Amino acid sequence: MANPSLLILAGDGIGPEVMAEVKKIIRWFDAKRGITFDVSEDLVGGCAYDAHGTPLTDATMAKAQSVDAVLLGAVGGPKYDKLDFSVKPERGLLRLRKEMDLFSNLRPAQCFDALADFSSLKKEVVAGLDIVIVRELTSGVYFGEPRGIFTEGNERVGINTQRYTESEIARVARSAFELARKRNNKVCSMEKANVMESGILWREVVQEIHDKEYPDVELSHMYADAGAMQLCRWPKQFDVIVTDNLFGDLLSDMAAMLTGSLGMLPSASLGLPMSNGRPKALYEPVHGSAPDIAGQGKANPIACILSFAMALRYSFNLGDDATRVETAVEKVLADGVRTADLMGPAGGTPVTTSQMGDAVIAALDASL
Ligand code: IPM
Ligand code: MG
Repeated sequence: MANPSLLILAGDGIGPEVMAEVKKIIRWFDAKRGITFDVSEDLVGGCAYDAHGTPLTDATMAKAQSVDAVLLGAVGGPKYDKLDFSVKPERGLLRLRKEMDLFSNLRPAQCFDALADFSSLKKEVVAGLDIVIVRELTSGVYFGEPRGIFTEGNERVGINTQRYTESEIARVARSAFELARKRNNKVCSMEKANVMESGILWREVVQEIHDKEYPDVELSHMYADAGAMQLCRWPKQFDVIVTDNLFGDLLSDMAAMLTGSLGMLPSASLGLPMSNGRPKALYEPVHGSAPDIAGQGKANPIACILSFAMALRYSFNLGDDATRVETAVEKVLADGVRTADLMGPAGGTPVTTSQMGDAVIAALDASL
């Protein structure tokens, strides 16, 4: 049987630095576990624009469609701020999500014990936190038409459209209920049904899918603003949160900070199964390209490493090996290894990106 295939799109800013540590882990799996991936690499984002005048070429798009999983670093940077909207680095990422139809974006927010002191919230609020936000990723206001900046009379008007079909809501709801069944069987759905018709439909469809197909799962609904408040007040009341594209973007950044550092959080963006039964999939850290620290060896590679662990679990059915990587990360943190973003007010000497990767490799070695 052919080896599983991976396309690496390291992207911009700290993307290539954090991805270099994932490549070490991929090599480790080859050498120590006999699990070999066929890895190819390509450009996305600003670096693709520099090389080709577009943030994602058709050839790269085609490659992404043909592999078992895509690993992405980060896109964007101040250098590209003035580019026309249509060729901004982010458009490359959004095209991947849309054309691969990656409608279900899993964003876990897990607070590692070793970092519980590190959150801006009280320790008892975040210690042991383990929730997943399931963000709809291919529709809503990110993609709705009409959109644009138009002229009306003597002024300009900016328009975006929030639009959800029943089937788009139903499929992301199903993925949240399925995930909940593998966890604590509890889903909270968030929208703004008090002000948006798309929110009313969202709530109705999520409830219908629940009643017909997942009556065993505990379901609640919250307005997204109240949900944001509750996430801050007592996040451990949640297990799986399902929400739309824009609310999911906001709520997942907020949930990330509960855990102490945006540098810790992985994500999986999943679509429909391919002919080999694997879901179309792209894995990426939740953090961005962090241009302010790019190229200095300061970035925390853990989010990207944990994204690879999610690939092992969701694309390659290697749940035990995913846990092996996650446990290695936990051990390294428990041993006090810290990149700069994880230095508390007490200070200390941070390790570099590459030293953090090496520490994870050493913990992996010890796991054998
Ligand atoms: C994210 C990011 C992206 C988004 C940007 C880079 C397009 O913020 O993945 O959360 O808004 O979805
Ligand atoms: Mg975001």
